[in-house]
Amino acid sequence: MTVRDLIDRALRHAALALGGKADVVARGPGRVNLIGEHTDYNSGLALPFAIGQATVVAVRERTDDLVIVSSDQFNEPVRLRLDQIRPGQVPGWAAYPLGALWGLLGAGVPRDRWRGFEASFVSDVPSGAGLSSSAAIECALLVALDHLWGLGLDSAALAAAGQRGENDVAGAPTGVLDQTAVLNGRREHAVLVDARSGDVELVPLRLACAGLVLAVVDTGVSHAHSTGGYAARRASCERAAAQLGMESLRELGVEDLAAASAQLGAEDARRVRHVVGENARVLETVNALGVGDLDRMGGLMTASHVSLRDDFEVSCSELDLAVEASLAAGALGARMTGGGFGGSAIALVREADLEAVETAVRSAFDRRGFGPPRVFSVQPEDGAAVVIPADSR
Ligand code: GLA
Repeated sequence: MTVRDLIDRALRHAALALGGKADVVARGPGRVNLIGEHTDYNSGLALPFAIGQATVVAVRERTDDLVIVSSDQFNEPVRLRLDQIRPGQVPGWAAYPLGALWGLLGAGVPRDRWRGFEASFVSDVPSGAGLSSSAAIECALLVALDHLWGLGLDSAALAAAGQRGENDVAGAPTGVLDQTAVLNGRREHAVLVDARSGDVELVPLRLACAGLVLAVVDTGVSHAHSTGGYAARRASCERAAAQLGMESLRELGVEDLAAASAQLGAEDARRVRHVVGENARVLETVNALGVGDLDRMGGLMTASHVSLRDDFEVSCSELDLAVEASLAAGALGARMTGGGFGGSAIALVREADLEAVETAVRSAFDRRGFGPPRVFSVQPEDGAAVVIPADSR
C-alpha cells in the first residue's frame, strides 16, 4: 500500500471513529533489522532500517480529560481518563499507544501538560511478525502529540518514551532499537544505532542500484516479547555482565571471549559469545557496505543467523527453514530479524533471483507442513513524521 493509500484509509477510519475532523495525522513505519540482534539492551550496536509498511494515526483533541484509542484491527475502542493511564491499568493493544503517552512523563512532560484526545489507528505492518508493529504505533502517536502539544522533543527522548511504555505498561522488557529505527529512518539509508552512546548514524543503502532486494519472509509464527524467552535472554546477559564486573557486555571484544567464558556457566557463555560477535558483525557490515561488498554483507547476515540459532537460541524451525531455503535458492545471505521465537526472516537477494527464492521458500514450507509464509520485499524508507500538520486544517 502506498503512503497516500494508507493516509486515505486512515482518514476514512478517522471520519467514523473520531467525533469530528482530525487535528493532526502522523505516520510511523515498521522496521527490519539488517544485523545487530539482541545487542540493544546490552548497550551494543545494530543496523536496522524503516520500511514502507506503516501505521497512520489521526488525532483529534478533546476538551475533557478522556483519551479514546481505536484501531481498524480491533473492534472495541479503549476509553480511559488521563489520570488512569499508568502501568497495570491499560488493557490489550492500547498498552502500546497509551504506554507511549505514559512514557512522556519520563521525558519531562508532566501530566498537567496532557490534554484529552481521540486517536484512530490504521496499519499495514503485520502484527507479531517481528517488524515492530508496536513501535510503529508508539512512534506515530508520539510524533503526533509532540506536534500537537508543541513539546519539541528530539528523537532520542521520543524513542525512550516509547521504550518506557513498552517496558512498564505493555510489560515487554525490550530495548530501544525499534523506536530508534522507526524515528530515525531515512529513504535509501540504514540506521547505525549505538545503544551505549545513543548515537545514530545514517549509512547509505541503495540496494536497487546494486540490483538487489531485501526479501521478508513472514513465517506467520506469532511471537510476543512480554512472555518468557526474551526476558530470559536479557536476564542471562545481565547476569553475565554482573559476574564479569561490567556495566554491560559492550565492554567485551571478540579477543576477550575466551577469558570471559572461563568465568561463566556454559549457557551464559554462549549468550555472551553471540552478543560480542554480533557487535563485531555490525561494524563489519558497515565496512562491507562502505566498499560495496554485498557478498560479504550477505555472509555476515548468515553468520548472525547461525549465532542466533545456536548460541542465543531464539530462532525456530520456520525461521531456520526460511533461511536455509533462501540460501539454497541463491540468496547472498539470510537471517531471522527482530527478537525471534517466530516472526520474520530476511534474505538479501539479486532481483533476478527473487522469484526463485520465493518459490523455494513456499515449497519448503509446504513440504514441512508449515502454513504458507508471506513473502514481500522492503527497502529503506523515511522514519516517523507528521503527514498532515495541525495548521493545515
Ligand atoms: C525486539 C526488541 C528490540 C530488540 C530486538 C532484538 O525487536 O523490541 O528492542 O531487542 O527484539 O534485537
